Amino acid sequence: MSATTQALPPAQRLPAEQLYVAELARLSTADQGERPPGWRLSPAMVRTFILGSNGQAIGGEPVLRKIFGNDEVVERSIVTLVGQRGLMLVGEPGTAKSLLSELLAAAICADSTLAVQGSAAVLEESIRYGWNYALLLRSGPGPEALVPGPLHRAMSRGALLRFEEITRCAIEVQDNLIPILSERLLHIPEMQENAGNCLLAKPGFNVIATANLRDRGVNDMSSALKRRFNFETMRPLARLQDQKELLLREVNRQLAEQQIDTRLTADVAELLVSAFQELRAGSAEGVAFEPPSTVLSSAEAIAVAFSAAVQCHYFGEPQVRPQHLARFMVGTVIKDDEQDSRRFRDYLRVVRRVRAGNPQWQDFADSQND
Ligand SMILES: Nc1ncnc2c1ncn2[C@@H]1O[C@H](COP(=O)(O)OP(=O)(O)O)[C@@H](O)[C@H]1O
Ligand SMILES: [Mg+2]
Repeated sequence: MSATTQALPPAQRLPAEQLYVAELARLSTADQGERPPGWRLSPAMVRTFILGSNGQAIGGEPVLRKIFGNDEVVERSIVTLVGQRGLMLVGEPGTAKSLLSELLAAAICADSTLAVQGSAAVLEESIRYGWNYALLLRSGPGPEALVPGPLHRAMSRGALLRFEEITRCAIEVQDNLIPILSERLLHIPEMQENAGNCLLAKPGFNVIATANLRDRGVNDMSSALKRRFNFETMRPLARLQDQKELLLREVNRQLAEQQIDTRLTADVAELLVSAFQELRAGSAEGVAFEPPSTVLSSAEAIAVAFSAAVQCHYFGEPQVRPQHLARFMVGTVIKDDEQDSRRFRDYLRVVRRVRAGNPQWQDFADSQND
């Protein structure tokens, strides 16, 4: 309990290759499969790392599943990365596009940090390379003065470049990738011809981009760039069982990471995923209501349950109850939208009525007494 006596974790959040460093080493040792040039693991072992080993021990221990419910997408994504086309993961927010891209990079090239976060402010130089102006003035445009950006580093190491939320960048910036993806070389026109003015990508280099369907659409991408990517769509989890397992696993892992000993219980997790499902569908026990307009993904469910558990831990409640969840749903999911909070209250009224005999659901509905 006394957090003051425990050692501080090394970082607030570890990149996947560090978080799973021991597991990746085990998989690499056990890996009998053929590895594509520049890859740390065979495609089959990358799949096992991401989708788990189904209880089978590999190098002494089973591998836990990290992405739920999109097995075919994961498999095709791995295959795409072996070839000469980039991988574009699209989908609603919170469907684990970023997580999958991070896990792929960790497993394939042991580095998920070569990343660009797309936004209107991203300039070409921050992706390709820039210059150290003091050295540029002193010695001219040579390798010493060049400051490699993530694209330059990924190409020279034969690693994966992660381009997050690519459609938030200006089209001109996105289109920088066209010659890179087709010719696999980066021109550095400022440099002399014999001083490396043309960087050839090492084997293993490729690009994983993600794009959010709620943002400016992928239709805004140039068709030339689209042609250089294989598109895969990440879908929200359909099965309640998957949602529940993910919620329990992820929330309890985050709590342990924060050195908090409160845990989410299976029945409370089940209630939360059912509530999310009903809010998405706009129907509970056959009674229809107007669904809120916000995103209700697994990522939001995790955030709600985590916050509720933190509150219980620090403010002296012995365990997370449905009511705590409902309170955090207002701040985490509904946010400041008046219409959505009305819709949420309507839902609670429906719940109170149709589940009158169920104490857990009554506790949930009691979060707002109106
Ligand atoms: N299908 C899934 N499998 C595993 N984790 C998931 C899944 N869907 C959502 N998550 C959880 O949601 C979190 C946020 O997902 P993220 O990768 O940021 O989504 P996106 O980039 O699609 O918006 C993940 O870190 C993970 O904990
Ligand atoms: Mg993302």
